[in-house]
This record gives sequence, C-alpha cells and structure tokens, in this order.
Amino acid sequence: MKNIDSNGHVTGKSLYLDDLPLRQDSLFGVVVGSEVAHGKILDIDLQEAENDPGVIKIFTYKDIPGENQIGGIVADEGLFAEDTVHFIGQPIALIVATSERAGREAREKVNIKYKKLKAITDPREAAANGSYLLPPRTFAAGHPEKQWDRCAYVFTGSTEQAGQEHLYLETQGAYSYPMETENLMVHSSTQSPTAIQRTIAKVLALPMHRIQVDVVRLGGGFGGKEDQATPWAVMSALAAHLLKKPVKVVLSRHDDLHMTGKRHPYSSDFRIGLSKDLKILAYEVEYFQNGGAANDLSPAITERTLFHTTNAYYIPHVKSTVHSCKTNLPPNTAFRGFGGPQGMFVIESAIAKAAMELGVPAAVIQEKNFIKDNDVFYYGQKAKKVNLQKIWKAAHKEYGFIKKQKEIEQFNSQNTLLKKGWAFMPIAFGISFTNTSMNQARALVHIYSDGSVGVSTGAIEMGQGVNTKMLQVTEQTLGIKPGRIKLETTNTSRVANTSPTAASSGADLNGKALQIACSALLRRLKALASNLLNIPATQIEFLNEQVLVNGNATEWNWEKLIQKAFLSRINLTENGHYATPVIHFDKAAGKGHPFAYHVYGLAFYEVTVDVIRGTYEIDEVDVIHDFGKSMNPILDLGQAEGGIVQGIGYATMEELAYDAEGRLLSNSLSTYKVPDIYAVPSVLKVKPLKTSGHPLAILKSKAVGEPPLMYGLGAYFAIQNAVRAFNPEFKEFDAPLTPEKVLMGLYQKKEATAKKQLKSVNVFK
Ligand code: MTE
Ligand code: HPA
Ligand code: MOS
Repeated sequence: MKNIDSNGHVTGKSLYLDDLPLRQDSLFGVVVGSEVAHGKILDIDLQEAENDPGVIKIFTYKDIPGENQIGGIVADEGLFAEDTVHFIGQPIALIVATSERAGREAREKVNIKYKKLKAITDPREAAANGSYLLPPRTFAAGHPEKQWDRCAYVFTGSTEQAGQEHLYLETQGAYSYPMETENLMVHSSTQSPTAIQRTIAKVLALPMHRIQVDVVRLGGGFGGKEDQATPWAVMSALAAHLLKKPVKVVLSRHDDLHMTGKRHPYSSDFRIGLSKDLKILAYEVEYFQNGGAANDLSPAITERTLFHTTNAYYIPHVKSTVHSCKTNLPPNTAFRGFGGPQGMFVIESAIAKAAMELGVPAAVIQEKNFIKDNDVFYYGQKAKKVNLQKIWKAAHKEYGFIKKQKEIEQFNSQNTLLKKGWAFMPIAFGISFTNTSMNQARALVHIYSDGSVGVSTGAIEMGQGVNTKMLQVTEQTLGIKPGRIKLETTNTSRVANTSPTAASSGADLNGKALQIACSALLRRLKALASNLLNIPATQIEFLNEQVLVNGNATEWNWEKLIQKAFLSRINLTENGHYATPVIHFDKAAGKGHPFAYHVYGLAFYEVTVDVIRGTYEIDEVDVIHDFGKSMNPILDLGQAEGGIVQGIGYATMEELAYDAEGRLLSNSLSTYKVPDIYAVPSVLKVKPLKTSGHPLAILKSKAVGEPPLMYGLGAYFAIQNAVRAFNPEFKEFDAPLTPEKVLMGLYQKKEATAKKQLKSVNVFK
C-alpha cells in the first residue's frame, strides 16, 4: 500500500497546524527569549512594548495560576524564567498581540537588564566545574579492571561528537482556544499529546480532563517534538485560558533554531583491550554528555547510550559511564537514535583505533566480535535470533565486497590526487522505550452502521507513515477494503495516557493495540454470523468484505452483517490495550531484558576524497537491513534511506557553531548545512535480510524509524580511511568530518587534539 498521505502531500492538500482555520477573534503569541546565556535578571521593562498598538497582554511567570514547571522527567525547567536565565533564547515572556507581526515589533521594545554570569558550553568544562544535571550513571559487566594485564593489546583514545539540529520542515507551534466552562482545546505539532495535556494541567492548575489535545500530523519531528513541543503549547493554552480567546504560537525558523534543544554533543574517552586473535576482551568508556541547561529527556538518552555502548558486539568485560553535564545551551533532547548514535560512534572509534595501530582493516575486528545467539548483552538481555553473521554473509554475496576492496586498493595505488576509503557500519538497536512502563498503547475502533470504520490510536503521523500501517492492520484484521477505513486525528479525549510516538515503537505499540481491538470486534461479528448461519464460528472467515464458510461465499457480506449487528444491539465499538510482554529492567542494577527485540543490519561505504581540496563524495552505500517481514516495503525503504542520509549529515557535514557566549551562529539554512540531493550517495542500495520476522513486531514487521540513522556513522570511518590512504597520521575521531577537517587532516603532521584548550587529559591515560 502506498503512503495514504502521498497524494495530499504532493497536491498540498494535507493539513498541518498552520493550515487550520482560525477563529475570527484569534490572537498571536511571540516569545521573548533571554539574550544572555547565563545571568541574573535585574529588571524587565515591558512598558513600551505594552503600549504598542496591537499588543493585548504580555505574560510572565507571575501570571501562571499553577506551577511554573514543564520538566518531563525531572522538575527542573520553568515555562518562563524567574530570576535567572540559563541559555540564550530561554523564554522569559509571551507577548500576545492581534497579529504575529505586531507581536514581533513589540518584542523589539522589551527591555531586560541582566547581570551576566559565567557561561559554560563545553561538557568537559562543566564537569571540571562540577556542573551536572544528574549524578553519573554506570552500567557494567564482568571486571574490565582485571583484564588489562591479560590483554595482548590495549588502546586508549578520545572522541568528539557535535550536536544535530532536527530541522523538521514545520517549526514548533500550537493553537489553543477556550471551550465551555474551563475546557481548553489545544492543537499542537507534537509527538507527545499526553505530555502536553499533563503539563498544561500542571501549569494552569486544572485537571487533565479539561484539556483536549488534538494532532492531525507533523511536518517532521525526528525527536525534536517529543518533549520540546510542550512549552509553546503550554504558552498558547495559558494565554487562551486567561484571555478567553484563541491564541496561536508558532515559532519562526530563527526562533526555533535559537530556542530549542538539539541532539546531545558528547566528548568521550575509551580504553579497549583485545586478545592476540583480536577478540575484544574489555572495554571501558566515559561519556561527557552536553545536556544543556535542563534535564529534558537527558536521563532517558543517557540510558540508551549505555544500552548501545557495545553496539553489535559481544564484549565480556565492560564498564560504561555517562556524565550528564549541565551547560548554558538550550536543553538538548531526543533525536532519532536517542543517545544510541553517540554510544555506537565511540565503540566504532575504539575498534578503528585498534585497527590503525595493529595495521588491519577495522572489518577484521568487527566481524570477529559480532554478538551471536545466546550471548548476553552486557546489560543482561540474552541475544536471540541474532542475524549479524547471516547479514555479513548475505552482504558479501550480494555486493561482492572483497572485489570492491581490491579495486579500492588498486585505485589508491594508481591515483595521487584522489583517494578512496571504505568501511563497514553494523548496527544492533534495541526496540522498546528503555523505560518499561512507557511500553503500552491503546486504540479505539468504531464500526459505523453503514460499515465504515473510524480508527483512533495514540500514534502520531510525522511523515514516517504510521497511519498507513494502522490502516493496513485494520484492513488485514477485519478483512475489509482500505477505502472503508478512516484514520482519525490523534486526540487525548479519544485515546488517553499515550506514550509519545517515539523509540521507533509507534507502529508496534499502537498497531498491537489496534489488532487487539479489531480482533475483539471480529469475534463478536463471527459469533453473530455463526448464529445467523448456524455454523460454528471457527469455520467462518472474513475476506474481501465477504463472510466465508470454509472458504465459500455466503449471502452475508460486511455491510449487511454490520447492519444486522447494529439492529441486534451488538457493540460495534472496541478499545484495545497493549502492553509489551517479556520486558523488564532493574535500573539500579543496570540489568534486565529491556527490549522486545533488536534490529540488526550492516552498511558498507565507499568514498572518494579530493586530496587537494579536502572535499569528498560518498560513492556507494550498500546495506543489508533486518526489516523483519516488512508489512510495507516502500514505506520501510523510505525510512531506511531517509535515516541513512540524516545519519550521513550528522557524521559528515552538519555543524552547529556557537560563539564563546553560547550564541548559536549557525542559525539559518545558509549557515547550517544539511544533506541536499547532491550530498546523497550516488549509489544507495538497501536490501532486506530474508527472515520471517519477530512476533513482538507488528505483523512481524520490525520497527524501522531510528535504526538506519546509525548506518550514517559509517561515512565517518570510510572518509577517515580515505584520508589515511594519503596521510596515515590522521587518527582523529571528531564528528562531523567536514571538508574543512578533512583538509586539515590530509596535511596534519601528527595526532592533534581536537579541542586542545578545553579538553582535560583522557581519563584512561
Ligand atoms: N520519519 C519522518 N519522515 N519524519 C520524522 O519525524 N521521526 C523518526 C522516525 N522517522 C521521523 C521519521 C523518529 S525519531 C522516530 S522515533 C520514529 O520515526 C517514530 O515513528 P515510529 O515509532 O512510527 O517509527
Ligand atoms: N526512546 C525514545 N524516546 C524515549 C525513550 C526511548 O527509549 N524513552 C523516553 N522517550
Ligand atoms: Mo524518536 S528520537 O524516539 O522521537
């Protein structure tokens, strides 16, 4: 089935927040953000702005009827700053005006005086100053400290990873209006309608049932709207509630870039120990995570980094620690992969470092250490149905890597101005929210008396195609035509207490709940048909809208049967509830079985570097990916390709620049470079692993939203190898590997350290 949104998207008919018709008396909110990264607020002078024609009211924390608190996991973030500001762009006030333009003009007239305090933007510097969001978290297995002497080889090193801007096409925004009594209707571009409902309730001191959050679809989220759609929705609700008028708050691109958090930058130290035959015996890593000014989702992202510390490898002795550092940047947040890419980059760097020092291709070490069936991931989950070995073989057969590698060697020996490099990037990504309690979902299905069906779930459509998958589940379970089914908006009054659509588990969780609801309806309808036909229900089947008995048509079809069911007063509505079985995790011990299953795969990269200019091309990316038994190969391929390109952007070109004061310099699309069509690999092949799928995946079709992004990391190592073909002294792990860094690397004399002045000594040296 094609993505059910594709026609609407191409013709421009799909509705987004900004397309919703506004009530005539609507007002517009513009956010006033801090101009300093860290400081005391001495005075807020709103007089001149308030006198502006068009300004209705300016709200600050003083106007909040409930709590000035929006922190999702830790209560450490106000909706508006009170006496101290912690990052540039931190909301201080909301100007509500008759137009957005009037609001913006008034913003120029707000006068805030600050006493500047020392701002920290680097996580190592934060750690040196004892500035943390939380105490460090460690997961461990075995005794790495006892292994170093037993290892034939031990290597240490450091890595740097920058952040990443989500750059969803649709910026953050919400539109709220008061309903009867104290009720509020909130339209938001959010991955977490329930988080918004809960937070509005807290800030406005209302019970949750007064607030209805409705989401049609998102123009992209990528994690950026898991937690950070909340403030703007709460602001619009606050103003709507207090003014008794509709209020729309939509961030301009510039405000969005300045005010919202991004992927967490990490600065890390590792130590890796190998045996004579290149088995990894021990691995130790300390990650310094740049959390920004408040926790936001950092505690959960910390966990996922810990879970993916060993990526696709079995390592018996591991110790992994995340220091979540508090800095004066916007709170960093969820981004496709959710801490996974950070963990995986470091282990891949450690392997690459070992390979460089030992003079073997990294692939030799990678392949020797892939996790196998019944090996235990170091957090306690036994690996089951691992197919890395199968993928490795399939990939070699499918793509002929040995020949490719020989050709690359030959190319390098014959060319002086161009050098090629290659690398493999394997992945093992755990599917489930790392927080076990979040792995639940509900779905509400109505069959109307004319036989048409309305489906509501907690899943948010953000371009990934989850609505299409929900339609497929309904169609296949009920045996009816897709044209009969309507996917309703995601609405907290229809489906309550939802988890965010995140962790790649939107289709699994909501799809399973939907299957449960549809199956219950089907059982009722079969019982009715059984009565009508006087045949045991086990012999009845619904297919193509026909009621079949032992495969043969009867006089009953879907429409007729629904009519009859309605007249017989049979309940044609059902609510399905799903909670992932099997999973559990002991957070204190760092052990358990947190994931329903893992997604595996392997990417091969071939790149060419121009040794005069430092520019590069990604010639080819060949992937074998474990989609399970894909329920929608076109959608899943789209997710894989999009994820890979977004991951390549992260590893090679997307570079956030700040000045010393913590002001974002790359604050437009002319200064923040994301992959365009020319940056996409010339050849990008993604082939499915032949497998029967996993029972905990919806229709055995594995979650696909995030895992492919991590293939993108392979671009780093392939480019690094191409540079090393020209200059073997280049050994740095400092992502993104931009053309500027490549050029420097091509001509650098010996290992230079990336951020010399800030970086403390590697903790393992
Ligand atoms: N694909 C598109 N087109 N747009 C998005 O915003 N978000 C990604 C991924 N793919 C995203 C996307 C992220 S971060 C996640 S967690 C999953 O989709 C969420 O959807 P799913 O759970 O239905 O896979
Ligand atoms: N992944 C993505 N988003 C999340 C998670 C997770 O594991 N936990 C909470 N939000
Ligand atoms: Mo995705 S980062 O889990 O929203």
